[in-house]
Amino acid sequence: MGFAIHRFKRLPSTMEKAHALARKGAGEGTWIVAETQTQGRGRLGRKWNSPLGGLYCSLILRPTRPQAEIPQLALVAGLAAAEAIHDLTRLYPSIRWPNDLLINGKKVAGILVEAKDKAVVAGIGINVTTDVKKLPPEATSLAACGAKKTSPDKLLAALRKHLGHWYAVWAEEGFAPIRQALRSRIGHFGEPVTITTGRQHLEGAAQDLDEQGRLVVRLDSGIQRSFEAGEVTLLR
Ligand code: BTN
Repeated sequence: MGFAIHRFKRLPSTMEKAHALARKGAGEGTWIVAETQTQGRGRLGRKWNSPLGGLYCSLILRPTRPQAEIPQLALVAGLAAAEAIHDLTRLYPSIRWPNDLLINGKKVAGILVEAKDKAVVAGIGINVTTDVKKLPPEATSLAACGAKKTSPDKLLAALRKHLGHWYAVWAEEGFAPIRQALRSRIGHFGEPVTITTGRQHLEGAAQDLDEQGRLVVRLDSGIQRSFEAGEVTLLR
């Protein structure tokens, strides 16, 4: 996976560049990487701080699996990013469903998956050697967690390998193998969660990941419900 890599010193956001290249016909496996972003963005319109020292990249995908399965790609990318980080640093990030990677309870990486014009763009941001003073208080970097020898470039190489592997598995076999690999990495099973979906705030305990990648939650009302990635934010 990943033949072309377009590298930039600075971009507004690698997402926009990826969508623009996809519109012009860029093939599956094209990567866009920037050393910094001036308008890096996260889910739900949030800003993604992108100072030097982080890996900011987007990957163009052209999946042929059914539309309903596309949100699973956030989990595929999250799993690949967690493995890439572990490979290089021996740190073991946990996954906060659906798109955050945490170390010691702080966010070290985030994933943003967007589908537009028949292409899917998977955006991945990892705080590698980033100065934590330039990050929000709930964030950390790999270096701050003790990984002093790594770099955004090394992370990119490891990410390409792991994402190439898990994307091919998902494309051929669907979500089952991803679910298997992910379950032990999801750090919040059994724990209380607050879910915001639209205007509703719901409290409950996260139970599991279902066969489609939805989060199964036993709500405090006693009802068990599955939530789609994309409709939900976990507040704790
Ligand atoms: C999130 O945690 O809400 C998702 C963060 C995604 C950030 C990455 S950095 C590379 C790509 N370009 C962006 O503007 N966002 C994604």
